[in-house]
Amino acid sequence: MRPETPAPVRLEDYRPPAYEIASVHLDIRLAPQATRVRAKLAVTPAEGTAAGTPLVLDGDELKLLALSLDGRVLAEDAIRVSPDRLEIPSPPAGPFTLEMETELDPDANTKLMGLYRSNGTYCTQCEAEGFRRITYFLDRPDCLSVYTTRIEARKNDAPVLLGNGNPVAQGDVPGTDRHYAIWHDPHPKPSYLFAMVAGDLARVSDTFTTSEGRDVALNIYVEHGNEGACDWAMDSLKRSMRWDEEVFGRAYDLDVFNIVAVSDFNMGAMENKGLNIFNDKYVLAEPDTATDQDYAGIETVIAHEYFHNWTGNRITCRDWFQLCLKEGLTVFRDQEFSADQRSRAVKRIADVRLLKSHQFPEDAGPLAHPVRPRLYHEINNFYTATVYEKGSEVVRMLKCLLGETAFRAGMDLYFDRHDGEATTIEAFLACFQEAGGVDLAQFALWYEQAGTPVIRAESRYEKEAGRFTLTLRQQVPPTPKQADKQPMHIPVRVALMGRDGRELHPASVTGAETTGDIIHLREASQTITFTGIAERPVPSILRGFSAPVSLKSDLADDDLLFLAANDSDPFNRWASLQGVLMNTLIAASACVARQQPVNVPDALVAAIEANTVDTTLEHAFRALCLQLPGEADIAREIGHDIDPEAIRAARAAVRSAISDRMAPTITAEYARLAGDGAFSPEAAAAGRRSLRNVLLDYIGHGAAGADGALVRAHFEQADNMTDRLAALNVLVHAALPGHEDALVSFAARHKANPLAMDKWFMVQATAARDETLDKVRALTRHPAFSAGNPNRVRALIGAFATGNQSQFNRADGAGLDYVADFARELDRRNPQAAARLLSAFRSWRALEPERRGHAEAALRRLASDDGLSADMRDIVDRCLQ
Ligand code: TRP
Ligand code: ZN
Repeated sequence: MRPETPAPVRLEDYRPPAYEIASVHLDIRLAPQATRVRAKLAVTPAEGTAAGTPLVLDGDELKLLALSLDGRVLAEDAIRVSPDRLEIPSPPAGPFTLEMETELDPDANTKLMGLYRSNGTYCTQCEAEGFRRITYFLDRPDCLSVYTTRIEARKNDAPVLLGNGNPVAQGDVPGTDRHYAIWHDPHPKPSYLFAMVAGDLARVSDTFTTSEGRDVALNIYVEHGNEGACDWAMDSLKRSMRWDEEVFGRAYDLDVFNIVAVSDFNMGAMENKGLNIFNDKYVLAEPDTATDQDYAGIETVIAHEYFHNWTGNRITCRDWFQLCLKEGLTVFRDQEFSADQRSRAVKRIADVRLLKSHQFPEDAGPLAHPVRPRLYHEINNFYTATVYEKGSEVVRMLKCLLGETAFRAGMDLYFDRHDGEATTIEAFLACFQEAGGVDLAQFALWYEQAGTPVIRAESRYEKEAGRFTLTLRQQVPPTPKQADKQPMHIPVRVALMGRDGRELHPASVTGAETTGDIIHLREASQTITFTGIAERPVPSILRGFSAPVSLKSDLADDDLLFLAANDSDPFNRWASLQGVLMNTLIAASACVARQQPVNVPDALVAAIEANTVDTTLEHAFRALCLQLPGEADIAREIGHDIDPEAIRAARAAVRSAISDRMAPTITAEYARLAGDGAFSPEAAAAGRRSLRNVLLDYIGHGAAGADGALVRAHFEQADNMTDRLAALNVLVHAALPGHEDALVSFAARHKANPLAMDKWFMVQATAARDETLDKVRALTRHPAFSAGNPNRVRALIGAFATGNQSQFNRADGAGLDYVADFARELDRRNPQAAARLLSAFRSWRALEPERRGHAEAALRRLASDDGLSADMRDIVDRCLQ
């Protein structure tokens, strides 16, 4: 029998720490397999702590070499120590100094948590609970301390030594081949924000003068040879710093801001105070190796980590249940930044697409949890789309409810009142309640209730009375451990569109509180009456996606197509077209299942065509209008008894029908959009490429491109990665003549660049063909693949599991078994990465019975294994519950 699952952590059990640690002095003497860490902690009993209360520190796989209290070595029986815990049963009643020495093996640390080496560079990752893998500590975010760090290493191995805060001293260690550096961070911080880096790295530098007149040295550290690939990251950093001053009034607060790019990293990046550590994927970019999407990702992640300096670092979380306090808010801030840098409408559509494809399925399956959970077994598994993306939507709704000015006042109050604290969602909401003079009690349910609310909208027009009524019904579906839900406070932006494409202005609106065009939906069902409406309008509902809900309106396809052509809200213009596409694709999957022909309405093709050639619209927006919902999106909308193969076939049929019926327009527009030579990563140029590459996709999947000539030419003539990869995708996915040669030539060109090779893995892993599983197996033995590197795993196995619905969910169960087995192996090395990969199973219950049976068998096989990590165990158990 497997061991009992350890007790979960519960929000209601939160107690402030019994001891405070005002300062931490670390002395880290680095060696690849035997690093020595001396920690000196200034400990004080917290107010109200009874004399003699035991001091219990967290550890994780630690080896204690020495310990002393106020300079005296403690007797054996005066401490209780194990690799994951250190207790001093009866400490002094007043302040005392605790000194400890631990020994670590960075080379053996394959979990990438704590201190490890990535390509020879020593680096750390302490969020959420990695600091306890370095020394025993009160490793919780409400323990704020001032850190001074001495780092020592061999000079040749690690000429660069970096810590948090400002550098205060450096020098050689006499009589040795070693040197040291001392860093001091004056800002008290939780241990999860501690970081150090040591290695042989190249540096790219710049400067920034803050609005407060502080000159800040900006440095990006990368492996030698990558210096030329940092320009975009540096530019993004400077734009982020300026934007936070202009939009939120927040300036940087240290003299140095360092960024280090490492190859082995579990997530995107980490906001350690003054020393951000990045997955190199979110730093390095050159036109030949990075796509436009990569450039956008770098801009976003650089901004995100920088913005954490105020939302996360200056004001941090009281406990990990409050994770969305920093993550949801910081995602909101980075999304707003990118919207200001690029096109607001296009950015909004991209964010909503991401929310729907990542967060909605999470909310609809066994891993559903509230934006602020109340219980966890493994906090690593709560860095989710719900906490990040839905958390951001909740902040966006706050802004919508309060309006621009009151929202800013609420943010100012939050910064003012809580700077230097570890705080909660309640404290955050209180600031907006005060600044906006609004009651947010019902709104707070957004943090408590999991599940995507469904809003059903029904409309009625009475000509004689000039009256239009809109009935909105909300329902929050049951989710694990939350069977019954209360109605939420949902801001629904609505306009009524007249036949001439202008917004109608009603004489009165009754049945709900409104502010401007926002309807405050607060009850299970509300009927809103608009008077003075002389003609039958078409309602444009949930403009700008004003709330993260699933809208089911009674609008017929012709009304949706009217909005697709006329809505003055660009988001709804796109969403309406998507709605008709979705209806068409769902109907098509049913046809495929019944072996009937697929029907694509003429009016839909005409609407897509109209937007494709509309030069008053941005290129990127026109590209979005041409993009079909993905297979997983279609599956999500169908919701049950999913046959991924039928969905794949239906989507392919609709795509080639559109391609063939729009062929003349597609070829003409494609030709018109050829570039003018000079490459720029800016939004406008990227938008043009995105439109041209969607058109290329249609060409390659239609009769016009069947010989592969045009797509091969696109591939060969590409002078940037965006175009080259787009063509490679089409060649491989449509199995066009020459696709094998293209794969060979891509690999030959990019074999030395692991991030570019990730794209090569991904293209092959996402081909919806029976051979793909064998191909993926074979590619795990390719020299460019490494199961120890999270980016490689995501590019090959992760892409297969999440980007290839029909092959992952093969009818024979082999795809599901393969991913389960791979995750099981990976778990021995890197539990966090393994658990993340395994969450690809989260929608298994929605599959048709045969596939569902295979998925369940694979999960049960894992569940019966005693050796799973806490991370994997948590995902497996929740998937099965
Ligand atoms: N706080 C990081 C962010 O900006 C998330 C993160 C980075 C993380 N590395 C991690 C979380 C490792 C858990 C474990 O979003
Ligand atoms: Zn973050």
